[in-house]
Amino acid sequence: MEGLSTRHLLGIKDLKEQDIQLIFETSDNFKQIINRSIKKVPSLRDVTIANIFFENSTRTRISFELAEKRLSADIVNFSASSSSVSKGETLIDTVNNILAMKVDMVVMRHPAPGACIFLAKNVKSQIINAGDGTHEHPTQALLDAYSIREKLGGLAGKKILIVGDILHSRVALSNILCLKKLGAEVKVCGPPTLIPKFISTLGATVEYDLKKALAWCDVANMLRIQHERQDFKYFPSLREYSMQYGLTLDVLKAIGKEIVIMHPGPINRGVEITSEVADSGQAIILEQVENGVAVRMAVLYLLAAQVES
Ligand code: CP
Repeated sequence: MEGLSTRHLLGIKDLKEQDIQLIFETSDNFKQIINRSIKKVPSLRDVTIANIFFENSTRTRISFELAEKRLSADIVNFSASSSSVSKGETLIDTVNNILAMKVDMVVMRHPAPGACIFLAKNVKSQIINAGDGTHEHPTQALLDAYSIREKLGGLAGKKILIVGDILHSRVALSNILCLKKLGAEVKVCGPPTLIPKFISTLGATVEYDLKKALAWCDVANMLRIQHERQDFKYFPSLREYSMQYGLTLDVLKAIGKEIVIMHPGPINRGVEITSEVADSGQAIILEQVENGVAVRMAVLYLLAAQVES
């Protein structure tokens, strides 16, 4: 395969299995590079990228920015709170003004599901989705799958559990799509009110009992409760949620086998995962963050090769 089959990265839905494998192989090379003493390559020297964030972010924003800098791209950072969006400018006008300054690619995070698809249809630029509301977070899913591949040697046939607020999670949706394309088995676990009714159509199964679900899996990806996207109470209290779905060392020991623990961040320590588990040798949470830079370098590099294709 020569390059990616898509011009934008709007969601995992649009990627073929070969695209994902190409991103992983390219990430392997970039991971070696970012672990050298000279971490920078000239690959995107004449490319200008705008990072447009309409929603808070620590990991994704810094990871994209570092990936761009390691590739020698020129970058501009835009946050909605300090921009003319607060004076009533539309998304299309805002982005077209940025593009008029000869920007080549746009990385966008937005609270509205589908905002990146809308933008890709209405502006002349390559768009990379850095998380759009409850819809997709494709680079998070790619770095998660890449981290499992690195830890377990592959994805095919592996049993991956996703625990928590599946209903409001773009990470869960993108992860399920990505893992299924790579031949993994996926199960979700959480309170019935936080599991969407359509989950089986994605090929994922459901288990409401955390201990049974953990006993089944090779990897458990713990998600936080997305309070910012919840319009009413989905469970009685955080304490009750934590007692039923929080991952503690005692629960982990009781399953009688070693599993890999993941979390996309930000972590709410003591709610979905205790500090003892998050900081244990079984957790690969910081490896996920490290891999995020290499995977985003690969995505940017491969998409840049698709300009005007
Ligand atoms: N995992 C993730 O998207 O984290 P941020 O919200 O900090 O970018």
